[in-house]
Amino acid sequence: MDFIELVKKRFSVRKYKQQAVEKEKLEKCLEAARLAPSASNSQPWKFIVVNDAGLVGKVANETYGPLASFNTFVKQAPVIVVIVLEKPKLITQIGGRLKNKEWSLIDIGIAAEHFCLQAAEEGLGTCMLGWYNEKPIKKLLNIPETKSIGLLITLGYPDYENTPDKKRKSLDEMLSFNTF
Ligand SMILES: Cc1cc2nc3c(=O)[nH]c(=O)nc-3n(C[C@H](O)[C@H](O)[C@H](O)COP(=O)(O)O)c2cc1C
Repeated sequence: MDFIELVKKRFSVRKYKQQAVEKEKLEKCLEAARLAPSASNSQPWKFIVVNDAGLVGKVANETYGPLASFNTFVKQAPVIVVIVLEKPKLITQIGGRLKNKEWSLIDIGIAAEHFCLQAAEEGLGTCMLGWYNEKPIKKLLNIPETKSIGLLITLGYPDYENTPDKKRKSLDEMLSFNTF
């Protein structure tokens, strides 16, 4: 598929079919994430695939609540991928502190988008989730206290008739040449 067509095809999927994701397709998405670039090639991530139905339900329950009902769809997804932040290389940690930048968050964002674009290529749907209760999810997945979860991604077959329109700023609003 033409790259721009793939970019247009991906959208945040919030309705899933009750259809399992094939192992080969999941592996392709993970491979795309694995090949993502990162600051100093630190690859500061660990991916946990949650595909046990009972466990998916328990993790999904920690992504919404009275203040955030927008994530109730998560429990329909057959797979949730949890991206745990790992410490980057020492040189990247020092550089990040000196320059006041959180490169690890940029890194996992790129890896997550690689994952999501590969999923779209496979006819699968994804939704990145930044809203979740970190502590209980860490407990459910035996993630050490000292580590932090950077992002969750739902994965499954989309249950849509039509692809929603993209709501985006116009190029004029987001772009200038040579000066702010
Ligand atoms: C870091 C990040 C966190 C997000 N968190 C959530 C979330 O918790 N729940 C949700 O439904 N969508 C979430 N989204 C999806 C965005 O709402 C979505 O990407 C945006 O509205 C653009 O729509 P599109 O992905 O369909 O093109 C998140 C996206 C990103 C990149």
